[in-house]
Amino acid sequence: MPFEQDINGVAANALVRNRTHNISLPVEPPGSTGNVSSSPVDQIQEQNHANTVRISVLRESLRPITLKFEDVSYAIELRENRGNCFSSPQPKVKRNILDGVSGVVRPGELLAMLGPSGSGKTTLLTALSSRLPGKISGSITYNGHPFSSSTKRKTGFVTQDDVLYPHLTVLETLTYASLLRLPNKLTRQEKIEHAELTIMELGLTTCRNSMIGGPLFRGISGGERKRVSIGQEMLVNPSLLLLDEPTSGLDSTTAQRIMATLRKLACSGRTVITTIHQPSSSLYMMFDKILVLSEGCPIYSGSANKVMDYFASIGYKPGFHFMNPADFLLDLANGVNPEARQDDQMEFHGSQNEHNATKQFLISSYKKNLLPILKEEIQRASQDEIHPGKSLPSRSSENQWTNSWWLQFKVLLSRGLKERRHESFSGLRIFQVLSVSIVSGLLWWHSDTNHIQDQVGLLFFFSIFWGFFPLFNAVFTFPQERPMLTRELSSGMYRLSSYYLARIAGDLPMELVLPIIFTTITYWMSGLKPSLITFLLTLSIVLLNVLVSQGLGLALGAVLMDVKQAATLSSVMILVFLLASGYYVQHMPPYINCLKYFSFSHYCYKFLVAVQYSKNEVYECGWGGKECRVQDFPAIKYLGIDSMVVDMAALIVMLVGYRVLAYVALSFSSCYGWPTTSAYGTLDFALALRLADEGVTITVIFAVAVAALIMQSQ
Ligand SMILES: Nc1ncnc2c1ncn2[C@@H]1O[C@H](COP(=O)(O)OP(=O)(O)OP(=O)(O)O)[C@@H](O)[C@H]1O
Ligand SMILES: [Mg+2]
Repeated sequence: MPFEQDINGVAANALVRNRTHNISLPVEPPGSTGNVSSSPVDQIQEQNHANTVRISVLRESLRPITLKFEDVSYAIELRENRGNCFSSPQPKVKRNILDGVSGVVRPGELLAMLGPSGSGKTTLLTALSSRLPGKISGSITYNGHPFSSSTKRKTGFVTQDDVLYPHLTVLETLTYASLLRLPNKLTRQEKIEHAELTIMELGLTTCRNSMIGGPLFRGISGGERKRVSIGQEMLVNPSLLLLDEPTSGLDSTTAQRIMATLRKLACSGRTVITTIHQPSSSLYMMFDKILVLSEGCPIYSGSANKVMDYFASIGYKPGFHFMNPADFLLDLANGVNPEARQDDQMEFHGSQNEHNATKQFLISSYKKNLLPILKEEIQRASQDEIHPGKSLPSRSSENQWTNSWWLQFKVLLSRGLKERRHESFSGLRIFQVLSVSIVSGLLWWHSDTNHIQDQVGLLFFFSIFWGFFPLFNAVFTFPQERPMLTRELSSGMYRLSSYYLARIAGDLPMELVLPIIFTTITYWMSGLKPSLITFLLTLSIVLLNVLVSQGLGLALGAVLMDVKQAATLSSVMILVFLLASGYYVQHMPPYINCLKYFSFSHYCYKFLVAVQYSKNEVYECGWGGKECRVQDFPAIKYLGIDSMVVDMAALIVMLVGYRVLAYVALSFSSCYGWPTTSAYGTLDFALALRLADEGVTITVIFAVAVAALIMQSQ
């Protein structure tokens, strides 16, 4: 692992030096860098110059952003009953999630969103990061402009649920993020140093080499995972940082530390917005602005230190003197009068009507007293933006991507290989393939052309085993990666094309090594034609078949993006292709005969047979040494062995076509939103991945059993 060595070795020392020098930014005389200096003073000067360049590159990425949102509303359509065979679907019901939320956050300010669970904090934060699907009414602007791709890269978004690759270590996660997201003006080494700095800053040094972990195996703790998520966004030095509950699940000291880091980031000119559940009083003191939501409606939006005065002015005071302001605000957002809470604990829960009345009063007070002031502030902020020099104009010359396509591809390929190193060459898989190959070799042990039915059966087995095994593995690829892909594409981390090709290239070693082992063992054990050329051709056809079937799996996964649907459809397709491939049924009715032309296993099987037998080859077909021509054997006659070019062309068209389809489906979804499906939770994937292997095994057993029955009956 090159970057680990880099970090542990020389770079770590350089890092510590850099940290000291970063505090003051020395101005270097021009031209001093080119000299080969030997004295310690010169070395320090060189070091200082390097730091100046590095910091200026990171500073360059800091463009102050004023975020304004005005009357933001968002509704979703709920269908209570989707209907079934016996009942008609109910009409859709509209539910308001956000209703007229406004605010303005300037560079240097830290806004905290408070509210009970389900009040719409995450929804608002997602809307502010421009990642909310569906139509949002109202306006959200960044320096007076709508969301653009350059704003996208200046925005960091930490989601409530941590979306991380489970098999990468903390260091790997942050280093890959750093390599992909930091501008190409920084060298690889500087990017790695930057990742290491972030690890130190977030107190992750003790777990830097531990894996993140997932639902099936334990990794770092929840709090550490949250800090890694924050680190991924912090290291790009975003101008606008949005965080969804960054302190949930953390002890108070760590929470304090994270909030202090956010405060520091805000003080250095960033715009920071965070949602937070129950902050302690000391955390509360760090907020500049507060937005309190109650069932999607704002009850307060403005300065944090004026909030108590405002609620006192409309008749609400904390029940006792030292009450945490956040507790007081949450009580109010829930419709609970904090004074009543102290007076009569028994009545605390009150009636639902009372709570609703309190909420309604607070919402209407907000509209009457605060909204006009807020609108004025938004207006003022808009005028500031028009004023020249206040905010930097958008740099039209700015390249849309921070790094080249090739660099993105290389980093993504390396990350993919690391992430899937365990899954790829797991002992179980190798055992599965080795055992099946040895058992098949023994079953068909030294079969010869005189037992042509057996040999044809083996060739068919090659085509189905290596047709469906990769398909089932590939079908879960994109649904499984969807959360990560969505997050990374929406932050402009890389191009879809570099991700796609890196993913396909990363799968190749695993997809190709196992079939090579399998074919080599089974081919020579089973006594197929003992010719190196025929063996190599057979192997190439099996590998082509693997790639076609993998492409179909990728396309199904990319189009449906749903584990359950993709698994169901692929099992149906597997069976249809299997049955139509020409082994089981040779006299299909004409109206369904065309199915075989869509079956890649049909072409593979036909191609394998054609390579194995020459046109004039004969076999013993009766008593007394009677010989028949191979091409007259019924199963082979039906297939025809003189159209190898067509078979190869069909497989190549499918190889390219399915991959293009998968890419088009992915880019369509990434532009217009992913299909809304329920089944893409991590746990579902864990189960799905287990089911995938079981599904393949069951299908293959089923196919072999049917084949055995047919052979018995002949
Ligand atoms: N796509 C959706 N389908 C159904 N309900 C939704 C959807 N999106 C949001 N909601 C509902 O909108 C409300 C607000 O959700 P949101 O996640 O924004 O709440 P929150 O304030 O972040 O809550 P928490 O503090 O628990 O994270 C919730 O009642 C949630 O169930
Ligand atoms: Mg939330």
